[in-house]
Amino acid sequence: KDDILILGIESSCDETAAAVVKNGREVLSNVISSQIAIHTLYGGVVPEIASRKHIEKINQVIEQALEDANVTLDDIDAISVTYGPGLVGALLVGVGAAKAIAYAAKKPLVGVHHIEGHIAANYIEHKDLEPPFLCLVVSGGHTHLVRVLEYGKFEIIGCTHDDAAGEAFDKVARAIGLGYPGGPKIDKLAKEGNPHAIEFPRAKIDGSKYDFSFSGVKSAVLNYLNGCEMKNIEVNRADVAASFQQAVVDVLVERAIDAAKRLGEDKIAVAGGVASNSALRAAMKNGCEKNNITLYYPSPVFCTDNAAMIAVQGYYEYMAGTRSGLDLNAVPNLKI
Ligand code: KG4
Ligand code: ZN
Repeated sequence: KDDILILGIESSCDETAAAVVKNGREVLSNVISSQIAIHTLYGGVVPEIASRKHIEKINQVIEQALEDANVTLDDIDAISVTYGPGLVGALLVGVGAAKAIAYAAKKPLVGVHHIEGHIAANYIEHKDLEPPFLCLVVSGGHTHLVRVLEYGKFEIIGCTHDDAAGEAFDKVARAIGLGYPGGPKIDKLAKEGNPHAIEFPRAKIDGSKYDFSFSGVKSAVLNYLNGCEMKNIEVNRADVAASFQQAVVDVLVERAIDAAKRLGEDKIAVAGGVASNSALRAAMKNGCEKNNITLYYPSPVFCTDNAAMIAVQGYYEYMAGTRSGLDLNAVPNLKI
């Protein structure tokens, strides 16, 4: 048998997902059961509810992934599962399921880092993309500039000191009454607004050129909204959305391009939920073209949480000989 099939499992936040990937690049199935509708009622992810929903769905999602791929467990070479970072109760459900299957079916187990999975999502549709490259990881929980040296070797170039980019989108969306998850809603509303209407801050971190801070821009938006309310000025929500989005995008693009130039990288990949933001994509495209950098990003379905990306990263680690024991545990604050 020449083909290597990996079953990927992901449950770090509010999607229960399983996927089968062939030879690290070909997605045979990609099942995602989203809990967004439930968490929307509370304006954000409620960890306890997330864990319970994962338990309800996980077996069904895994069976569906095998069925969609038209394979059985016998055909699978290894099980890869996200073991961190994320919500501990949520992670434990995927890790528990993966360990049970690995034990019962006598298959190797490979624990995968969620962020490394997001990065690997880029390999699915860009068959030519190979390390080294620079990756801008922008999700609900993380904002990192990562140099991908090899499939399993990473160097952190910069990260956020406070809020993640997606978190800022979600908080600002809530403040202007758009609901959860806010990123896609701001993206949409911003198209009707003027990105230069309001000057929100673009934070720099003293002494660390490639780090980020998004709590300042978020506070500036909240202050602006409070100011309008006190003065009885009607808020143009589209202008707020567009101006906030522009402030975030400007910083992300500037740092990513600067870092690539300094490091001599001619490829930048973008990953994570915010990578599907249309303003970020447009600005990255523009900046990369000007600097002769090739830009990569996944389709939206592979930007947000999914298990295909976990199977892809799992494949490369499996091929490199990485194996996890049945004592694999969830690590909520796992570092790259
Ligand atoms: O990668 P992801 O699914 O989860 C984490 O690992 O955190 O990312 C979810 C985040 C949320 O904060 C969501 O608001 C944001 O990605 N997001 C977007 C867009 N689509 C999703 N942010 C801005 N624009 C979008 N189009
Ligand atoms: Zn994620």
